[in-house]
Amino acid sequence: MAPRDAAEGATRWWKRTTVYQIYPRSFADQNGDGVGDLRGVIGKLDYLAWLGVETLWLSPFWESPQADFGYDVSDHYAIAPEYGTFDDFRALVRAAHARGMKIVFDMVLNHTSERHPWFLDARASRDAPRRDFYIWRDGKKPHGKAPPNNWRSMLGGSGWHWDEASGQWYFASFLGFQPDLNYRNPKVKAAMLDVVRFWLREGVDGLRLDIFNAIFKDPSFGDNPFSWRPAPTEDDPHGYFQRHVHTIDHPDTIAFARELRRVVDEFRDPERFLVGEVFGDARTLRRYCGEAADGLHLVFLFQTLRTRLSGPAVRALVEELEREFPEPFSPTYVFGNHDRPRFIHRVDESPEKAKLLATLQLTVRGVPFIYYGEEIGMENHSIPLHEGLDPIAARFGWVPSFLVPAFRARGILLNRDECRAPMQWDGSRHAGFCPETARPWLPVHPRARGTNVGAQRDDPRSLLRCYRALLALRRELA
Ligand code: NOJ
Repeated sequence: MAPRDAAEGATRWWKRTTVYQIYPRSFADQNGDGVGDLRGVIGKLDYLAWLGVETLWLSPFWESPQADFGYDVSDHYAIAPEYGTFDDFRALVRAAHARGMKIVFDMVLNHTSERHPWFLDARASRDAPRRDFYIWRDGKKPHGKAPPNNWRSMLGGSGWHWDEASGQWYFASFLGFQPDLNYRNPKVKAAMLDVVRFWLREGVDGLRLDIFNAIFKDPSFGDNPFSWRPAPTEDDPHGYFQRHVHTIDHPDTIAFARELRRVVDEFRDPERFLVGEVFGDARTLRRYCGEAADGLHLVFLFQTLRTRLSGPAVRALVEELEREFPEPFSPTYVFGNHDRPRFIHRVDESPEKAKLLATLQLTVRGVPFIYYGEEIGMENHSIPLHEGLDPIAARFGWVPSFLVPAFRARGILLNRDECRAPMQWDGSRHAGFCPETARPWLPVHPRARGTNVGAQRDDPRSLLRCYRALLALRRELA
């Protein structure tokens, strides 16, 4: 039998790798409709190979009403037409593999779009065949018009949504148009594991698991206990005045991590990996990796998004992650993503300080995740809440504009469009993201004229060249 660690002593590829996150909508638009697409990504693979990143994680590009830009999937087997076709997806995997790169998909297991055929069916009546694919409950007596219990969504407010037609409530951990699947129904679990197998069979090298910490809810449906915490933070997901013991980090979710690992381990040549989007302190999150390292391969350690960037604070963080994730576990280092303010503002927009942070990220033991544009020091594009396309912006539209920067400074984006502006390739009108005649789906940052790949590529002192040199060094020493 092949040894569990096929590399026998050599470090497994997913521990050595560097991950580059692509938000497909914003990376490169090849067909000129102002929306990034898969052909656009293929067109930039040579750049990514030149840069020296090894694994590409793409945010979702499945069929979706795009109410949460792909995190609301309506068909797990189809590519959304604005991103391309199935052939484009296959071409992308082939082209990445041909360059020795790996491809990681975003897997949204927790919920679907409300427009997914399963939910359309579930919603049709109380005894619809797929009613039990989602989490439905009667409301509180006498009239059932109060939510079944006090469970809150991850954004605050009740996670329960009233369905007038059937007179029941359904639960959603995130937004109301993203109903949570009911993993206590074996049919749901089997159907979603089929989705996972399908894409792994297509050659996908790993999966990033969206809000994995919410998959199982407690079957008691008891109230979550009171807590004084007003809001969740990176290292503690409890908040909105309750401990989410029945909805987050449920023991059955931790057990499911191991079950999913067994499914992924069916695919061995090459080995695939799982990285979980989970929130909490390092010790809690390690549980997702399994006592015997038989759970998720990696988890995001989002403390890095908020740590004070001073010598002692960073040192304490690295020591903590080393302590909690010793071999055979591996920490992750994340300084930005499609939900968070861009990190350059945490280092006073200074490319020199950004180089220092990149040096830490790319030389410390662990797996670095680089968000597109970080390598050139892309900035947030501050866009007023009322202009936001992001559904979160609409939800927080009531927040007065003078308070928005305070949230941003705490690492919270009320309008995530700000960190999703088009990639800055050159100094032309739309920064080379789309043809000049097209209208980019989000406005290009005004600083794109100076901050772009073209301007930094030939400058040996640029941030971009620093990333490239560090990535080369990392490969050499791995
Ligand atoms: C976390 C993702 O990172 C975020 O972009 C998305 O809106 C939610 N999960 C819901 O899927």
